[in-house]
Amino acid sequence: MTNKPKKIVFPVAGMATRFLPATKTVPKELFPLVDKPLLQYAVEEATGAGIEEFIFVTSRRKPGIEKHFSRLTELEEYLESIGKEAYAAILRACALPEAAVKVIYQDEPRGLGHAVWLAKEAVGDAPFAVLLPDDAILAKTGVLKQMVDFLDATEPASLIAAQEVADDKTPLYGIIDGAPEKGHLRVKSLVEKPAAGTAPSNNAIIGRYVLQPRIFSHLDALVKSHESGKEIQLTDAIAALAKEQAVYGFVFEGKRFDCGQSAGFVAASVAYALAREDIAPSLRESLKEII
Ligand code: G1P
Repeated sequence: MTNKPKKIVFPVAGMATRFLPATKTVPKELFPLVDKPLLQYAVEEATGAGIEEFIFVTSRRKPGIEKHFSRLTELEEYLESIGKEAYAAILRACALPEAAVKVIYQDEPRGLGHAVWLAKEAVGDAPFAVLLPDDAILAKTGVLKQMVDFLDATEPASLIAAQEVADDKTPLYGIIDGAPEKGHLRVKSLVEKPAAGTAPSNNAIIGRYVLQPRIFSHLDALVKSHESGKEIQLTDAIAALAKEQAVYGFVFEGKRFDCGQSAGFVAASVAYALAREDIAPSLRESLKEII
């Protein structure tokens, strides 16, 4: 049995109220870094890691997400008819095969754990990945590919991407209590958004996960005991999993941007643009002027 995930869950149902009014009709996951939506970078990272099936846990209020990954033959044909073949090719390249896509609706905001739990049937009994498109990561090798390459066929391990954050930032993340092992961190426990001054370390969970299907029994338990109004945390389910199976905090290579807040999103836009040869030179000039 392979330990490499073939399916991925994208939890993308959130309303992103922080980005209103932009998110009134445009899902935040479709905001572009330069000219490509955040979620398309995420899908490309997944494809590069060998993922073959894409499960979107989304909202009926965000039909653009499904549309973005399906064919738009009318527009493709029109672009071809006016000689803009290169643009038609860009459109074709961002469509996923229909059979490779599953759409699940999360009708109430009940947290990341609940979103992943909704994908239980679609995932089945095999390891799978989860990617939060808010965490944009510029890297030579996609972070999910780095993680999948680390997996060992013999050990049913789960991985969570890990990165050190400053003391005052620990209340914004899931935090890892772990010990160094195999160049990464063996997770003993996890705490979701600890109160200031109480974090067990500075190692934060970043939005890339490879999870064993056993996670669903822990999510089941959390959903059953769920008090209304309280979010179901994926972090709590992974902490329970770590008591039974190996979970590693995976220290990845790459520069990560928090596109869940506006300053991080703008910084990511600049960094991704500077990584592009076609626009970097003129952008550098403009930035000099602005600063
Ligand atoms: C989620 C997770 C948190 C993790 C973070 C990474 O939080 O619950 O453990 O550290 O993503 O971006 P959110 O940022 O969705 O509140």
